[in-house]
Amino acid sequence: MSSDDIELEHALDAARRRYIQAHPVSLESAELAASFMPGGNTRTVLFHEPFPLRIVSGEGCRIRDADGFGYVNLLGEYTAGLFGHSNPVIRDAVMQALDNGVNLSGHCPDEVLLAELVCNRFPAIDKVRFTNSGTEANLLAIATAIHSTGKQRVLVFNGSYHGGLLYFVNGGMPINAPYDFLLGNYNEIESTRALIRRHAHELACILVEPMQGALGCIPALPGFLEMLRSESRKARVVLVFDEVMTSRLSESGAQGIYGITPDMCTLGKYLGGGLTFGAFGGESELMELYDPHRPGSLPHAGTFNNNSLTMAAGVAALGQVLTAERLDSLNGLGDSMRDELNGIAVRHEIAVRFTGMGSLIGIHATSSRSIDSCRDLVDRDDRVLELLFLDMLECGYYLARRGFIALMLTIGRSEVDGFVESFERFAGNRKSVLKKPVADGRSAIAPPRPCLGIHRARVPGTDREQRDRRHARYCRHKSRDS
Ligand SMILES: Cc1ncc(COP(=O)(O)O)c(C=O)c1O
Repeated sequence: MSSDDIELEHALDAARRRYIQAHPVSLESAELAASFMPGGNTRTVLFHEPFPLRIVSGEGCRIRDADGFGYVNLLGEYTAGLFGHSNPVIRDAVMQALDNGVNLSGHCPDEVLLAELVCNRFPAIDKVRFTNSGTEANLLAIATAIHSTGKQRVLVFNGSYHGGLLYFVNGGMPINAPYDFLLGNYNEIESTRALIRRHAHELACILVEPMQGALGCIPALPGFLEMLRSESRKARVVLVFDEVMTSRLSESGAQGIYGITPDMCTLGKYLGGGLTFGAFGGESELMELYDPHRPGSLPHAGTFNNNSLTMAAGVAALGQVLTAERLDSLNGLGDSMRDELNGIAVRHEIAVRFTGMGSLIGIHATSSRSIDSCRDLVDRDDRVLELLFLDMLECGYYLARRGFIALMLTIGRSEVDGFVESFERFAGNRKSVLKKPVADGRSAIAPPRPCLGIHRARVPGTDREQRDRRHARYCRHKSRDS
């Protein structure tokens, strides 16, 4: 171990000891939890050593742990918490749905409204079906592609995450769903083109994130998605964008930013207004396979697919809270925050880089100057992220232990400024234990945000204004009924 390594280990030991001492209630709760759940955990992403905090309440953009410490929540429930804790408009809608009675055993008016809001928003989605999670949405998108093409293989990319059973962050996982996966290298245009051509006869679909989220917010190079679009068309392969995380990057998602419309798209997270949610949608021709009027149609079951609480929360969130202006302004805040943080890392000459797009920021302890795929992260030092996480907690900022920030609408300039100042102090105080970046001959510090101009949601052959009028009429109708 080098002397730098020893110094880093000492710094980490001291930070961990302070954390343990400060959080006896969280520790006790973690120990009790371990009696009933393996490792005291029911959601792996929340686990970290020595033990995760117990969060007891939240308001606006702040949360409080069981030991009485308050934090600005920069994690935003891994993107699902876009609306903060708890938006009053969404809260009222959920309360109204509760007052109407839950488990009504049938269709509810809000599912129609939410479906219309979703279809109007995302260019790829002519028709939509709801699920309970993004994982389920991706499993159904794959199944749809396999059924419709009669082919079996699924192209995914190293470093991708598409849900609990579709995990490719380190190539794959033993409990992945048993589909016949082919693993490509993200952002490698020519090798992927060759892979698609070689396997065209057996490929049912390409499942891709427009920005690899779990790997640390690594955006697709625009030419990569363009190539996937054109090659998948030629090869009769269903192109599926997993927009579970990226759909919040513009009013029409990442597909709107890149100006590329896939055949299908999957959604989740914030679109249920903070409640459990998932959806898959796409071209009418594909989605009509699920039309129960049609003989031999595909079944799509799920007791809670249209649960009235999520449907109400989603309608309030998309219909009233999430205006295009608010979304654009939040994504602009994220862009400037990322630039400022990268500026500090460069000035202090530390091997820390911030990637991502808009309000989603990945943090990497690496000396690579340009990060386009997991291959650029081979030298990453996870201990630096742990030290940053523990130091930032002490400054009153809660982020993902793995180095991830998802801004919520309730976060403002002052919270961002506070975090940027805290990071500047970290960069200065911890400089002696952090590595220096090495020049690797590439010029960009962070991947460029594709700037191809937002292209608005559309539905082919449908007049948008007419749909909006129909929507307004339906809302009036609904409020008269309730
Ligand atoms: C890109 C992506 N796809 C799918 C999922 C799975 O969604 P869920 O956790 O709702 O199953 C996630 C969750 O983090 C995700 O980030």
